[in-house]
Amino acid sequence: MPTLATTVDGLKLPNPFIIGSGPPGTNLNVITKAFRDGWGAVIAKTVSLDAAKVVNVTPRYAKLHSRSGEEVIGWENIELISDRPFEVWEEEFKKCKDLFPDRVLIASVMEEYRKDSWIEIVERCGACGVDGFELNFSCPHGLPERKMGAAMGEAPDILEEVCGWVKSATKKPFWAKMTPNITHIEEPSRAALRGGATGVSAINTLRSVIGVNLDTLRPEPTVEGYSTPGGYSCKAIKPIALRMVMEVATMIRQEFPGRSLSGLGGIESGRDAAEFILLGADTVQVCTGVMKFGYECVKPMCNELLAFMEKHKFKTVSDSKGKSLDYFTTHADLVKRQAERKAAQKAAAANHHKMVQADSEWRSDQFVKQSNDLAR
Ligand SMILES: Cc1cc2nc3c(=O)[nH]c(=O)nc-3n(C[C@H](O)[C@H](O)[C@H](O)COP(=O)(O)O)c2cc1C
Repeated sequence: MPTLATTVDGLKLPNPFIIGSGPPGTNLNVITKAFRDGWGAVIAKTVSLDAAKVVNVTPRYAKLHSRSGEEVIGWENIELISDRPFEVWEEEFKKCKDLFPDRVLIASVMEEYRKDSWIEIVERCGACGVDGFELNFSCPHGLPERKMGAAMGEAPDILEEVCGWVKSATKKPFWAKMTPNITHIEEPSRAALRGGATGVSAINTLRSVIGVNLDTLRPEPTVEGYSTPGGYSCKAIKPIALRMVMEVATMIRQEFPGRSLSGLGGIESGRDAAEFILLGADTVQVCTGVMKFGYECVKPMCNELLAFMEKHKFKTVSDSKGKSLDYFTTHADLVKRQAERKAAQKAAAANHHKMVQADSEWRSDQFVKQSNDLAR
């Protein structure tokens, strides 16, 4: 019987399914629900030291439906990081660790480009007993005017420096969460790992405009008649997330063996999770999926992942980690492989044709070869 229990960066998880930073981990109330329902770990909603500067709007979500209208396939949000005071979060982190001492609670943090601020936020969260950190370098819409989030994650030099500050402030593991709004995700990931990050999380949301209302001519979500590009999530982004996870995993394998990778983007089932793990993820995160289906979805996800592992005789999650990475190559190599197979088939057919088909075809000068050919 396979097990879902796994240890990543010293963190012991009952299963690899982690609540991704966002509404499903936005206060102690919902974090408690996540742990009670069996999630492997929780990454809380991103916090900053001065929540007074974070002002959210409503509405702040917009959905893209399938043609039949039955299914939500894409989800845009213009939600900022947590607007709750940092002191409240400190209390809740402490209470959470009192309630669930054996469960893994990860603080997601984001700050301005100032060494003191990053060190302070990491030290204060650490003092509350959180087990690790995720550094949010990737929110696509929030606070670029303060050089936060993706504004930082798109600049590898800054990212490396900030990871160095965090490394100096904690002995706990920390993951750098990457933006997909960049051409080569390996570059900022590499910089974060050089700076000392224990692992990488990929991906955050894609910068998007989900649609325009054809009655009002206003883009959505519409706030006071106006809109702003937001972050796109949900199952529509899964192929992009898988590609980026594959690229980061390949880079980690070659340049930083032993560092971890947490994959996310559109995961809604255990089979989705299996795909991320096969492409190199140690853990998987779910955010929008929880908003669509509720916290209970972790149970069928675990069962589906277990069934996959059983089918392929993988005993642990790490047994299957990265197993599909070896099947990627260049397009030129695909062409070469196909040409080689076709040539081999042609040769075999020609050979078959040359075989003696009737007794009249036996030749005295080819007798041994013709005998051998017939034996193949
Ligand atoms: C409403 C909403 C709020 C989010 N807030 C945060 C956040 O505060 N910090 C963060 O790192 N990511 C945040 N995210 C991004 C998710 O954690 C995740 O990276 C992204 O949505 C892709 O995964 P998913 O398709 O499972 O949602 C948010 C996503 C949504 C939909």
